[in-house]
Amino acid sequence: MKRQRWCYNAKSRFAVLTLFGVSILILINFLAIDKLCFNVFNFKRIPKAKLFDTFLQKLDDENLAGNWSAIYTASGIRHLAGEGQELVDFTSQKFQEFGLKTWVETYNCYLNTPIEQSLKLIKEKNNEIEYIPSLKEDELEDDPTTFGGNLVPTFHGYSANGNVTAEYIYVNYGRKEDFIKLIENNISINGKIVIARYGEIHRGLKVKFAQENGAVGVLLYSDPGDDHGITTENGYAAYPDGPARNPSSVQRGSVMYLSNAPGDPTTPGFASLPGVERKDPHRSIPTIPSLPISFRDVEPILAKLNGFGLPSNKISKDFIGGLPDYDYSIGPNQNYVLNLYNNQNYTISPIFDVIGELEGYIKDEVILVGNHRDAWIVGGASDPNSGSASLLEIIRGFKALTDIGFKPLRTIVFASWDGEEIGLLGSTEYMENHSSELQKKIVAYYNVDVAVSGTHLNMESSPSLFKILKDVSKFVKYPGDKAGKQTLYDHYEKEQNWNIGILGSGSDYCAALDHLGIPSVDLGFGNSEKDAVYHYHSNYDSYHWMSTLIDPGFVYHNTISKFLGLMILQLSEHEVIDFKLGDNSAKIKIYFDEISKLIPSNWNDRKIKDFDLNDHNYDAILRKLTKRLNFKELLQFTSNKLSEFDKSMSEYDLYLSRLQEEFNDLNTLKLWSKLKLFFKIKLNNLKLKYFERNFLHDEGLINRSWYKHMIYASGRYTGYEGQSLPGLREAVEDGDFENAVKWINILLKAIRRIENGISF
Ligand SMILES: *[C@@H]1O[C@H](CO)[C@@H](O)[C@H](O)[C@H]1NC(C)=O
Ligand SMILES: *[C@@H]1O[C@H](CO)[C@@H](O)[C@H](O)[C@H]1NC(C)=O
Ligand SMILES: *[C@@H]1O[C@H](CO)[C@@H](O)[C@H](O)[C@H]1NC(C)=O
Ligand SMILES: *[C@@H]1O[C@H](CO)[C@@H](O)[C@H](O)[C@H]1NC(C)=O
Ligand SMILES: *[C@@H]1O[C@H](CO)[C@@H](O)[C@H](O)[C@H]1NC(C)=O
Ligand SMILES: *[C@@H]1O[C@H](CO)[C@@H](O)[C@H](O)[C@H]1NC(C)=O
Repeated sequence: MKRQRWCYNAKSRFAVLTLFGVSILILINFLAIDKLCFNVFNFKRIPKAKLFDTFLQKLDDENLAGNWSAIYTASGIRHLAGEGQELVDFTSQKFQEFGLKTWVETYNCYLNTPIEQSLKLIKEKNNEIEYIPSLKEDELEDDPTTFGGNLVPTFHGYSANGNVTAEYIYVNYGRKEDFIKLIENNISINGKIVIARYGEIHRGLKVKFAQENGAVGVLLYSDPGDDHGITTENGYAAYPDGPARNPSSVQRGSVMYLSNAPGDPTTPGFASLPGVERKDPHRSIPTIPSLPISFRDVEPILAKLNGFGLPSNKISKDFIGGLPDYDYSIGPNQNYVLNLYNNQNYTISPIFDVIGELEGYIKDEVILVGNHRDAWIVGGASDPNSGSASLLEIIRGFKALTDIGFKPLRTIVFASWDGEEIGLLGSTEYMENHSSELQKKIVAYYNVDVAVSGTHLNMESSPSLFKILKDVSKFVKYPGDKAGKQTLYDHYEKEQNWNIGILGSGSDYCAALDHLGIPSVDLGFGNSEKDAVYHYHSNYDSYHWMSTLIDPGFVYHNTISKFLGLMILQLSEHEVIDFKLGDNSAKIKIYFDEISKLIPSNWNDRKIKDFDLNDHNYDAILRKLTKRLNFKELLQFTSNKLSEFDKSMSEYDLYLSRLQEEFNDLNTLKLWSKLKLFFKIKLNNLKLKYFERNFLHDEGLINRSWYKHMIYASGRYTGYEGQSLPGLREAVEDGDFENAVKWINILLKAIRRIENGISF
């Protein structure tokens, strides 16, 4: 393919269209175009620099993040999915007060709330109860959201009901590879209750792998060995007296299989509206019961395994955690069984998304910004209400802008999602319900879930948005630098060398990116080794913890609001959508080369034509081309193609910046040239807006068709962690030659589609 074909081809076609369109429109109403053109791009708009200054000034003058945090995390207000009407009302009221057109969307989702759960250690010989753990977190006098009414029991979202009694074993993190190691060592998992520590992968997949290996129940606990050395063993005091983990803390959480599909598991791919036909949810949720537990509660249970079964170090050193009284023997100990009882109330219940819109001049180019409101506990100062507080601060900052006459160029929509914790319900149902409209309109989705759980900036993003992240981070100071010199740009360069991570799953960007092909970003200050231990999904993720140990003064909250607010302005006010597509093509090339190295050498000489490509609806030209090749040649061909693609995208980026420059000198142009430029920008903005959609593959990934993006997905064995070129990568991992060829062709077809500008 000629490298310039993509933009120039489209350009000439566009010229014809423009001439035609423009003449007709001029004939119809010359004045209307004039008005449209100048209204949209020029008329009375406040310069971006002034907007940046005003916005930052507003958030400097007054920081109300702590006030909003106190409200979202107040004692007594439970806000699990569908709960906390007070907070729905509060959020709606604030959105309105700050000038947004506001409404609430209700979806009816399958979900569970806890009724009763218990655990007993039983001495098998005489059926005597040896020990009953409390399954409760301690009430702390210093921390008002750890006692009083309405506390949330320790339980798992979407865990199965059951009453099981069985011998138990320790399975490390419960990863796929942990189970493989146990089986290699002839340890039987069948019929056992397994005890795994949290960490490394999403908890739902731990339960999935346990179930697939025949376990009948699962306990998940937080091991102090995973607390980066900030432990009482090492002399740190535990919360509330110091930064170490409170021994009674429990991580609640969902055990949905995130990497299969998020959203209501009875309505995968469509919205949970009243009367909708529902499916059996068990492709995405477990059939065996599970419970979360504190390390203090689980230690006496694990200690009974000391000396029984294989010692962990016979399997792998990485099986050993940090509990002082447990020697990490795998077990089982035939003298003891556990009884695990789990009773959850499964219902179809309403959940509530609060949506607020700030209308722009251009209504079909929309920026969506979201945070979830629901939490596992009464508090939730970090997850998610640091994000909720920051979101309100952003909107308050925008009120200061509309107060001086600002109307955004592009429409901005803010969302306060419900039901994220149990399975990304609010965002997924919203995106499924409005899928075609959102695919037509949304330019990008900005997500902030945990805005602050520590002091280390975390970012995961679609490459289209890298440029905005880099440019805007230079305008915001990093609060961790006491000298006040470092910007977020400097901080991220120092800590991460600007290696922005890829999006996996575990927050509300998932449906936007993976299902609808909307470029997305997720960011916040994460917990680092220097910070107090994060009491994730525990009662101790509270206002007290936040305001004493993590963000006194709420300055990190304030920083996230500034950063995201400016990112919104940068994207809404830049006339040419401020994406850099070359960052995508460069990454795709890197991912592809990475996977190429993993390919089994005996694939090299295999001919592509050995099997039938007709099944996969291949592009005819590609089919002919690739049929002649052997696999090694196909890899080379693809690699070359991706390099060409990268070059043409980089040239297109240059073309876009020239277009913007032309616009910046608008006043020097004649009316006719202005109109021409207006249409050029409109057309290229369409291409930019739809760029990411080209990477959707209708059939979706194999065995998880909800995931449609061919470049990014949630890792099938990790959940949270992103996986690049998932189709191809999985085929290579599975030694599946035919699927490897299939996914290379799908990729090539998408590249060709972009190069030909077909979908623009
Ligand atoms: C925010 O909280 C501070 C400290 O509690 C208080 O003094 C102030 O009045 C509050 N402001 C608003 C607008 O609620
Ligand atoms: C789903 O979308 C339609 C329009 O696309 C809208 O009328 C309806 O209110 C939405 N459903 C919910 C629950 O908001
Ligand atoms: C659970 O099963 C045991 C027998 O295995 C029984 O004794 C106990 O009553 C059951 N618990 C509940 C709550 O049903
Ligand atoms: C597992 O059992 C098989 C067959 O009983 C035996 O050959 C193998 O050595 C055992 N492996 C280990 C690690 O004990
Ligand atoms: C289960 O939830 C439904 C709907 O909220 C409620 O009416 C019912 O009382 C609950 N059942 C139990 C046992 O808590
Ligand atoms: C898809 O599911 C089938 C049946 O469970 C399994 O055999 C196959 O390995 C899976 N393929 C992938 C790519 O996950």
